[in-house]
Amino acid sequence: MKRPELGITLTKLHCWELTQYSKCVFMDADTMVLANIDELFEREELSAAPDPGWPDCFNSGVFVYRPSIETYNELLQLATEKGSFDGGDQGLLNTFFSSWATTDISKHLPFIYNLSSISIYSYLPAFKVFGANTKVVHFLGSIKPWNYTYDSKTKSIRGDAHDPTMVHPEFLNIWWDIYITNILPLLEQHGVVKETTTGVNMDEVTEAVSHMSVSATASSPSSPPPPPTVSSEDRKEKWEQGQADYMGADSFDNIKKKLDTYLQ
Ligand code: GLC
Ligand code: MN
Repeated sequence: MKRPELGITLTKLHCWELTQYSKCVFMDADTMVLANIDELFEREELSAAPDPGWPDCFNSGVFVYRPSIETYNELLQLATEKGSFDGGDQGLLNTFFSSWATTDISKHLPFIYNLSSISIYSYLPAFKVFGANTKVVHFLGSIKPWNYTYDSKTKSIRGDAHDPTMVHPEFLNIWWDIYITNILPLLEQHGVVKETTTGVNMDEVTEAVSHMSVSATASSPSSPPPPPTVSSEDRKEKWEQGQADYMGADSFDNIKKKLDTYLQ
């Protein structure tokens, strides 16, 4: 898919190591929850919604699973021996849980638990009928909500008329509204970004967040990751080329520490 940055998604496999939990729901960071979805915990491993591009594969942006070191090791073994057909976690997981499409319909999550934003314009009539029931939106693809420019006065994203996502920009606007209302003030409070009077420059925010010291949240018991040795701009470029520093600054341990700090 010419998206080498997807290689980093294999870090997702670490979720099977969270054995302090008996059952979990994994959600991509580019998903947005619109309604309570606690009922997902009534499902079994591996439950997921169909992928809009190939509906006999599940989309791995939202799935129910059971942490297990055994499963984790088997997944790693498969990755090492056969690799992934899409270069990311979704290809590998579909090879591993290969009976998903044919065996147990209760493992097919309704599409409203992982509504891929591209489906809105690829099947607009269905979206008009069912879209209001959406519980989770997934902004899949290489352009993410944070890549748009948002006008906080009109409460809408800016874009050109040829962009198909502009047909129904509602979800993107909700994402931005949540970001501006709930997240940005926190970042300002912690001095991560300066108070913004003239719209938001997401590049600046991303840049600032990538520099953000974990010790900014003093209550964290975990030690901060070592400071990056390359500039965050270089680091971002490396990530986008699929060359994350997996064993160093971008190691899963460091990513986990950062996530733990936010969760606390
Ligand atoms: C698709 C899925 C995403 C996954 C990626 C790599 O983009 O939506 O969840 O990480 O493929 O397999
Ligand atoms: Mn995703």
